[in-house]
Amino acid sequence: MLEYEKVPIAIIGGSGLYDPKIFSESKEIKVYTPYGETSDLITIGTVEGKKVAFLPRHGRRHRIPPHKINYRANIWALHELGVKWVISVSAVGSLRMDYKPGDFVVPDQFIDMTKKREYTFFDGPVVAHVSMADPFCNHLRKIIISAAKDLGITTHESGTYICIEGPRFSTRAESRVWKEVFKADIIGMTLVPEVNLACEMQMCYATIATITDYDVFAEVPVTAEEVTRVLNENTEKSRKLLYEVIKRIPDKPDERECSCCNSLKTALV
Ligand code: ADE
Repeated sequence: MLEYEKVPIAIIGGSGLYDPKIFSESKEIKVYTPYGETSDLITIGTVEGKKVAFLPRHGRRHRIPPHKINYRANIWALHELGVKWVISVSAVGSLRMDYKPGDFVVPDQFIDMTKKREYTFFDGPVVAHVSMADPFCNHLRKIIISAAKDLGITTHESGTYICIEGPRFSTRAESRVWKEVFKADIIGMTLVPEVNLACEMQMCYATIATITDYDVFAEVPVTAEEVTRVLNENTEKSRKLLYEVIKRIPDKPDERECSCCNSLKTALV
C-alpha cells in the first residue's frame, strides 16, 4: 500500500474554484483508490503553516458534470491523506428572495432528490447505516460563519440544500415544489453523496454555498452573463473566506467540538 504525506484539511472546490491560489507552496499528487480516478490530481500546499489539500470537484476546465463525479474516489482519496476537515465550496441557486445572488449560505440540512449515484462505502458484506440527522459538522459550520462575519461577507447561517440529479435545471413546477412544499432554501447538484461519504469516513464536513442565481420559481430571467459575473465575484470572496477559515481550524484533531469522528460508533450495523 502507498503511504501518503498526512494532510489534515481539504477543500473541495466547486464551479469557478478550480485553482486555490491561497497556497504559499504546492505540489500535485495522484492518489490511487479502489473506486477509480479522483476528479483531478490533488494539490497539496501550505496556508499559515497548515497543510491543505485541494481537489476541484468538476476537474480542471470543468470537464465532469455533477452526475458523473466519482464522489467515492474523491472522499476515499482525501481520507487516505488523513484529512479530518473537509471544506466544500459549491455554487447554488436560491429558492427565496431574501437569499440573494452573491450571498453565501452555510447549510445545516439537505434533501436528496438525486437518482443514480454511488451513495455509500458500505456496499456489503460490511453494512452500516450512519445517522444523517445533522449531516454537517457544527464545529466547522461555526468557524465558517464567524470568519465570514468578521470579513463582512453576507452569509446566511442556516439553510436546507435540495440536491437534484441534474445536469438540467428544474422546471418551474419542480422549483415551486422545492420552495413551497419542501421548504428548501437553496438548490444545487453536487452535495449528495459527497456529504454522506464524508460522514461515513467520520470527517468533519461543511459547505460554503455561494448563490449565483434565483431558481426559476422567481420568474426573474437569469442571464449567463449575470451568473458568470456573480461566480467571479464569489470566487474572490471564497478565497478570502477559505484563508480565514483554515487559520481558525484547530491544529489537533482532539480539539474537535463535534461528534463527526464517532459517526460509525453510533451507526446501525
Ligand atoms: N447551481 C447553481 N444554480 C443552480 C440552480 N438554479 N439549480 C441547480 N443547481 C444550481
